[in-house]
Amino acid sequence: MPTNHRVKLASRPAGGLPQPANFEFDAVETPALTEGQVLVKISYISLDPAMRGWMNESRSYIKPVQIGDVFRAGTAGQVVESQNPAFAVGDYVTGNLGVQQYAVAGAGATDPASPEYLVKVDTRLAPLETYLATLGMPGLTAYFGLLNTGQPKAGETVVVSGAAGAVGSVVGQIAKLKGCRVVGIVGDEEKAEYCTTELGFDATINYKTENVRTALRAACPKGIDVYFDNVGGEILDFVLEQIRLHARIVICGAISQYNNTTPVKGPSNYLSLLVNRARMEGIVVFDNAANYATAAREMAGWIQEGKLKSPKVQVEHGIENFLPALLKLFSGENFGKLVLAP
Ligand SMILES: NC(=O)c1ccc[n+]([C@@H]2O[C@H](COP(=O)([O-])OP(=O)(O)OC[C@H]3O[C@@H](n4cnc5c(N)ncnc54)[C@H](OP(=O)(O)O)[C@@H]3O)[C@@H](O)[C@H]2O)c1
Repeated sequence: MPTNHRVKLASRPAGGLPQPANFEFDAVETPALTEGQVLVKISYISLDPAMRGWMNESRSYIKPVQIGDVFRAGTAGQVVESQNPAFAVGDYVTGNLGVQQYAVAGAGATDPASPEYLVKVDTRLAPLETYLATLGMPGLTAYFGLLNTGQPKAGETVVVSGAAGAVGSVVGQIAKLKGCRVVGIVGDEEKAEYCTTELGFDATINYKTENVRTALRAACPKGIDVYFDNVGGEILDFVLEQIRLHARIVICGAISQYNNTTPVKGPSNYLSLLVNRARMEGIVVFDNAANYATAAREMAGWIQEGKLKSPKVQVEHGIENFLPALLKLFSGENFGKLVLAP
């Protein structure tokens, strides 16, 4: 049986960025399979900003990872042993199998959030890693968050932050498909260039080098109809100043606040929602699980027709590099979808 190297949560970060001492590495033999089980060799571990929240004890949309547990993560891999007729050796699968090299799963779990639940994926339609990007959780977040909650209409102005990232790059492209003017907010010139030249955004704003308030005014002369917020903080306030009547603000994430040592900074401009009869609504991708397959099929069609580009996938290597790789999300050193090949 192969040896499985794993990353477990050893302690909860006190605030600020997670530290090496918060994690423990171990190695165990993979167990013999019982009926219904499969052994998956994990090829890619999805690194997501939400992982920072799962380290905290506080109440959220999903239970925190418990101390001593293998750290939760979306994964993609290949079945290497099977005692389950529904999965053959060689099948490619995705599941929340955690930060480890191998996982035993597949014994009839029906809850998509369960660490046992597996979905077979077709690597003839898209490369395996795309199932952790456009055709996986980030792409589905973009799809449902923008279309169901943002409800963009042709001719409207859509602003998205974290615009070159796994979620934001798909949001901007879907908004373009719907006939909108799209403005992306990023923290890097290369990312800005990518959004306009490769993804077809109409304009970008570099929040690290530009005055965001002034730049938004120039890029959105008619005001903002939809804001897809991935970052929170003061950028949300600047957007609220410039929304139009009946604007929709999609609260997807607030990465600027996840490692705070002080309380989360909320929007002081919230009365703009009143003045503009606007709506601000939080979304959680898991609420759409029943419709994932339909959405992924539609996006796969867009990819095949050349209408949607999958975000760049940045692969980091080595399970021992889990934490330094994860921290790239918070420094902006990742470009597109960040994954770890363990
Ligand atoms: N609600 C849901 O169901 C759901 C599901 C998935 C993801 N999310 C959320 O969606 C957001 C994007 O996730 P992702 O996976 O697509 O990540 P990502 O955009 O691929 O990577 C994170 C990016 O955030 C930007 N960033 C980091 N610190 C920042 C700061 N202080 N201020 C502004 N931007 C900062 C960096 O880009 P720059 O170089 O451009 O600064 C970084 O590359 C996150 O907030 C995540 O929690 C929510």
